Amino acid sequence: MRVLYCGDVVGRSGREVVIEKVPELRKSLKLDFVVVNGENAASGFGITEKITNSFYESGVDCIVLGNHSFDQKEIMNIMSSDKKLIRPVNYPEGTPGRGAAVFKTARGKSILIIQAMGRVFMDPLDDPFAAVDRLLNGNRLGSQHDFILVDLHAEATSEKMAMGHFCDGRASAVVGSHQHVPTADAMIFPGGTAYQTDAGMCGDYHSVIGMQKDEPLRRFTRKIPGGRFTPALGAATLCGILIETNDETGLATSIEPIRIGGHLKPTL
Ligand code: FE2
Repeated sequence: MRVLYCGDVVGRSGREVVIEKVPELRKSLKLDFVVVNGENAASGFGITEKITNSFYESGVDCIVLGNHSFDQKEIMNIMSSDKKLIRPVNYPEGTPGRGAAVFKTARGKSILIIQAMGRVFMDPLDDPFAAVDRLLNGNRLGSQHDFILVDLHAEATSEKMAMGHFCDGRASAVVGSHQHVPTADAMIFPGGTAYQTDAGMCGDYHSVIGMQKDEPLRRFTRKIPGGRFTPALGAATLCGILIETNDETGLATSIEPIRIGGHLKPTL
Protein backbone atom coordinates (compact mmCIF):
# COMPACT_ATOMS: atom_id res chain seq x y z
CA MET A 1 0.00 0.00 0.00
CA ARG A 2 1.04 3.59 -0.53
CA VAL A 3 0.02 6.02 2.20
CA LEU A 4 0.70 9.77 2.45
CA TYR A 5 0.76 11.44 5.87
CA CYS A 6 0.62 15.25 5.70
CA GLY A 7 1.99 17.09 8.75
CA ASP A 8 0.13 19.67 10.84
CA VAL A 9 -1.81 22.01 8.55
CA VAL A 10 -1.41 25.57 9.84
CA GLY A 11 -4.00 28.20 8.86
CA ARG A 12 -5.22 29.21 5.45
CA SER A 13 -1.87 28.83 3.64
CA GLY A 14 -1.55 25.27 4.87
CA ARG A 15 -5.13 24.41 3.99
CA GLU A 16 -4.76 25.79 0.48
CA VAL A 17 -1.61 23.82 -0.34
CA VAL A 18 -3.17 20.58 0.92
CA ILE A 19 -6.44 21.10 -0.94
CA GLU A 20 -4.57 22.04 -4.13
CA LYS A 21 -1.95 19.27 -4.06
CA VAL A 22 -3.70 16.21 -2.60
CA PRO A 23 -5.84 15.50 -5.71
CA GLU A 24 -2.80 15.44 -8.02
CA LEU A 25 -0.64 13.54 -5.50
CA ARG A 26 -3.29 10.84 -5.20
CA LYS A 27 -2.77 10.19 -8.92
CA SER A 28 0.94 10.85 -9.39
CA LEU A 29 2.01 8.91 -6.29
CA LYS A 30 -0.69 6.23 -6.78
CA LEU A 31 -1.86 6.71 -3.20
CA ASP A 32 -4.18 4.26 -1.49
CA PHE A 33 -4.82 6.51 1.49
CA VAL A 34 -4.17 10.07 2.67
CA VAL A 35 -3.97 11.16 6.33
CA VAL A 36 -3.76 14.83 7.29
CA ASN A 37 -3.04 16.31 10.70
CA GLY A 38 -5.65 19.07 10.95
CA GLU A 39 -5.35 20.27 14.53
CA ASN A 40 -3.98 23.72 13.55
CA ALA A 41 -6.08 24.20 10.42
CA ALA A 42 -8.51 26.81 11.85
CA SER A 43 -6.30 29.91 12.30
CA GLY A 44 -3.73 27.72 14.03
CA PHE A 45 -6.09 26.43 16.71
CA GLY A 46 -8.28 23.39 16.11
CA ILE A 47 -10.49 22.59 13.16
CA THR A 48 -14.08 23.28 12.05
CA GLU A 49 -16.64 21.09 10.28
CA LYS A 50 -16.33 23.24 7.16
CA ILE A 51 -12.57 22.64 7.04
CA THR A 52 -12.93 18.89 7.61
CA ASN A 53 -15.33 18.77 4.63
CA SER A 54 -12.94 20.74 2.42
CA PHE A 55 -10.19 18.22 3.20
CA TYR A 56 -12.45 15.22 2.51
CA GLU A 57 -13.56 16.77 -0.81
CA SER A 58 -9.92 17.15 -1.86
CA GLY A 59 -9.27 13.43 -1.32
CA VAL A 60 -8.18 13.25 2.30
CA ASP A 61 -9.35 9.97 3.88
CA CYS A 62 -8.68 10.64 7.55
CA ILE A 63 -7.91 13.66 9.76
CA VAL A 64 -5.86 13.28 12.94
CA LEU A 65 -5.70 15.99 15.60
CA GLY A 66 -3.66 16.56 18.79
CA ASN A 67 -3.49 18.94 21.76
CA HIS A 68 -5.66 21.48 19.88
CA SER A 69 -8.41 18.92 19.11
CA PHE A 70 -11.09 20.76 21.04
CA ASP A 71 -10.03 24.40 20.51
CA GLN A 72 -12.98 25.20 18.24
CA LYS A 73 -16.18 24.72 20.25
CA GLU A 74 -18.23 23.77 17.19
CA ILE A 75 -16.09 20.66 16.69
CA MET A 76 -18.07 19.04 19.52
CA ASN A 77 -20.98 18.75 17.05
CA ILE A 78 -19.04 16.27 14.90
CA MET A 79 -16.27 14.88 17.13
CA SER A 80 -18.30 11.77 17.93
CA SER A 81 -20.26 11.41 14.67
CA ASP A 82 -17.42 11.96 12.15
CA LYS A 83 -15.80 8.54 11.96
CA LYS A 84 -12.88 9.87 9.89
CA LEU A 85 -11.79 12.31 12.60
CA ILE A 86 -9.31 11.00 15.18
CA ARG A 87 -8.13 12.68 18.39
CA PRO A 88 -5.46 11.25 20.72
CA VAL A 89 -6.44 7.89 22.19
CA ASN A 90 -5.04 8.64 25.65
CA TYR A 91 -7.47 11.42 26.59
CA PRO A 92 -9.48 10.58 29.73
CA GLU A 93 -12.19 7.97 29.37
CA GLY A 94 -15.45 9.53 28.26
CA THR A 95 -13.83 12.20 26.08
CA PRO A 96 -15.90 12.60 22.88
CA GLY A 97 -14.54 11.13 19.68
CA ARG A 98 -12.21 8.24 18.98
CA GLY A 99 -8.46 7.64 19.18
CA ALA A 100 -8.34 5.02 16.44
CA ALA A 101 -10.37 4.01 13.41
CA VAL A 102 -10.36 1.29 10.75
CA PHE A 103 -10.88 2.21 7.08
CA LYS A 104 -11.35 0.18 3.89
CA THR A 105 -9.47 1.51 0.86
CA ALA A 106 -10.78 1.48 -2.73
CA ARG A 107 -8.70 -1.70 -3.32
CA GLY A 108 -10.42 -3.34 -0.33
CA LYS A 109 -7.42 -3.07 1.99
CA SER A 110 -7.87 -2.56 5.72
CA ILE A 111 -6.00 0.32 7.36
CA LEU A 112 -5.95 1.15 11.06
CA ILE A 113 -5.04 4.71 12.07
CA ILE A 114 -4.08 5.36 15.71
CA GLN A 115 -3.15 8.67 17.30
CA ALA A 116 -1.65 9.12 20.76
CA MET A 117 -0.26 12.19 22.48
CA GLY A 118 3.09 12.39 24.27
CA ARG A 119 3.45 13.47 27.90
CA VAL A 120 6.91 15.07 27.92
CA PHE A 121 6.55 18.90 27.85
CA MET A 122 2.83 18.35 27.13
CA ASP A 123 -0.38 18.33 29.16
CA PRO A 124 -0.59 15.29 31.45
CA LEU A 125 -2.62 12.48 29.92
CA ASP A 126 -2.93 8.71 30.26
CA ASP A 127 0.09 6.62 29.26
CA PRO A 128 0.38 6.71 25.43
CA PHE A 129 2.50 3.54 25.35
CA ALA A 130 -0.07 1.49 27.29
CA ALA A 131 -2.89 2.84 25.10
CA VAL A 132 -1.08 2.04 21.84
CA ASP A 133 -0.01 -1.37 23.20
CA ARG A 134 -3.63 -2.33 23.92
CA LEU A 135 -4.65 -1.38 20.39
CA LEU A 136 -1.75 -3.20 18.72
CA ASN A 137 -2.36 -6.33 20.80
CA GLY A 138 -5.95 -6.44 19.54
CA ASN A 139 -5.13 -5.53 15.93
CA ARG A 140 -2.58 -7.62 14.09
CA LEU A 141 -0.66 -6.32 11.10
CA GLY A 142 -0.67 -8.67 8.11
CA SER A 143 -3.60 -10.78 9.29
CA GLN A 144 -6.26 -8.28 10.45
CA HIS A 145 -4.97 -5.12 8.78
CA ASP A 146 -2.90 -4.38 5.69
CA PHE A 147 -1.56 -1.13 7.14
CA ILE A 148 -1.31 0.25 10.69
CA LEU A 149 -0.23 3.85 11.24
CA VAL A 150 0.61 5.28 14.65
CA ASP A 151 0.85 9.08 14.93
CA LEU A 152 2.49 10.25 18.14
CA HIS A 153 1.66 13.91 18.66
CA ALA A 154 4.48 14.97 20.94
CA GLU A 155 7.09 17.60 21.75
CA ALA A 156 10.03 15.39 22.75
CA THR A 157 11.95 13.65 19.98
CA SER A 158 13.00 10.99 22.52
CA GLU A 159 9.40 10.06 23.34
CA LYS A 160 8.56 9.74 19.65
CA MET A 161 11.60 7.63 18.86
CA ALA A 162 10.82 5.40 21.84
CA MET A 163 7.28 4.93 20.47
CA GLY A 164 8.77 4.00 17.09
CA HIS A 165 10.83 1.21 18.63
CA PHE A 166 7.92 0.18 20.88
CA CYS A 167 5.80 -0.47 17.78
CA ASP A 168 8.55 -1.94 15.60
CA GLY A 169 7.25 -4.96 13.74
CA ARG A 170 3.67 -4.32 14.88
CA ALA A 171 2.87 -1.17 12.88
CA SER A 172 3.60 -0.26 9.26
CA ALA A 173 4.68 3.23 10.29
CA VAL A 174 5.13 5.44 13.32
CA VAL A 175 5.15 9.14 12.46
CA GLY A 176 5.52 12.12 14.74
CA SER A 177 3.57 15.37 14.63
CA HIS A 178 3.27 18.62 16.64
CA GLN A 179 6.79 20.03 16.22
CA HIS A 180 6.03 21.70 12.85
CA VAL A 181 9.56 21.12 11.55
CA PRO A 182 10.37 18.00 9.49
CA THR A 183 13.14 15.81 10.86
CA ALA A 184 15.77 14.17 8.63
CA ASP A 185 15.55 10.70 10.16
CA ALA A 186 13.18 8.79 7.87
CA MET A 187 14.17 5.14 8.22
CA ILE A 188 12.87 1.60 8.52
CA PHE A 189 13.53 -0.09 11.86
CA PRO A 190 14.83 -3.71 12.01
CA GLY A 191 11.33 -5.14 12.57
CA GLY A 192 9.98 -3.41 9.44
CA THR A 193 8.26 -0.31 10.84
CA ALA A 194 8.84 2.94 8.94
CA TYR A 195 9.64 5.89 11.18
CA GLN A 196 10.16 9.66 11.10
CA THR A 197 10.31 11.73 14.28
CA ASP A 198 8.27 14.60 12.85
CA ALA A 199 6.48 15.04 9.54
CA GLY A 200 6.80 18.84 9.66
CA MET A 201 3.93 21.22 8.95
CA CYS A 202 1.90 22.14 5.91
CA GLY A 203 2.21 25.91 6.13
CA ASP A 204 4.35 28.99 5.54
CA TYR A 205 7.88 28.31 6.83
CA HIS A 206 8.78 32.03 6.83
CA SER A 207 7.25 32.13 10.28
CA VAL A 208 7.77 30.79 13.79
CA ILE A 209 6.41 27.26 13.38
CA GLY A 210 3.57 28.59 11.23
CA MET A 211 2.74 31.77 13.10
CA GLN A 212 3.54 35.31 11.96
CA LYS A 213 6.93 36.18 13.42
CA ASP A 214 6.21 39.42 15.31
CA GLU A 215 4.27 38.10 18.29
CA PRO A 216 6.48 35.05 19.03
CA LEU A 217 9.58 37.27 18.73
CA ARG A 218 8.05 39.84 21.08
CA ARG A 219 7.34 37.15 23.66
CA PHE A 220 10.81 35.62 23.37
CA THR A 221 12.60 38.95 23.64
CA ARG A 222 10.35 40.94 25.99
CA LYS A 223 8.23 38.31 27.77
CA ILE A 224 5.19 40.58 27.43
CA PRO A 225 2.36 39.34 25.19
CA GLY A 226 1.32 42.05 22.74
CA GLY A 227 -1.41 40.27 20.83
CA ARG A 228 -2.64 36.96 19.51
CA PHE A 229 -0.74 34.38 17.52
CA THR A 230 -1.92 34.46 13.91
CA PRO A 231 -0.87 32.10 11.10
CA ALA A 232 1.65 33.31 8.52
CA LEU A 233 -0.04 33.71 5.14
CA GLY A 234 2.86 33.38 2.69
CA ALA A 235 3.55 30.53 0.29
CA ALA A 236 3.10 27.21 2.05
CA THR A 237 5.00 23.96 1.81
CA LEU A 238 3.11 20.68 1.78
CA CYS A 239 5.25 18.65 4.12
CA GLY A 240 4.62 14.98 4.71
CA ILE A 241 5.78 11.40 4.55
CA LEU A 242 5.12 8.77 1.89
CA ILE A 243 5.16 5.20 3.17
CA GLU A 244 5.04 2.09 1.02
CA THR A 245 4.37 -1.36 2.44
CA ASN A 246 4.50 -4.99 1.38
CA ASP A 247 0.95 -6.20 0.67
CA GLU A 248 1.60 -9.59 2.28
CA THR A 249 3.13 -8.50 5.58
CA GLY A 250 2.00 -4.87 5.97
CA LEU A 251 5.58 -3.95 6.87
CA ALA A 252 7.33 -0.99 5.28
CA THR A 253 9.40 -1.26 2.12
CA SER A 254 10.14 2.46 1.81
CA ILE A 255 9.66 5.81 3.51
CA GLU A 256 10.19 9.12 1.73
CA PRO A 257 9.87 12.66 3.08
CA ILE A 258 7.66 14.82 0.83
CA ARG A 259 8.14 18.59 0.53
CA ILE A 260 6.37 20.57 -2.18
CA GLY A 261 6.16 24.32 -2.71
CA GLY A 262 6.83 27.25 -0.38
CA HIS A 263 10.20 27.92 1.19
CA LEU A 264 11.60 24.47 2.02
CA LYS A 265 13.90 22.65 -0.36
CA PRO A 266 11.60 20.37 -2.39
CA THR A 267 11.97 16.61 -2.48
CA LEU A 268 9.92 15.92 -5.59
FE1 FE2 B 1 0.08 20.11 18.42
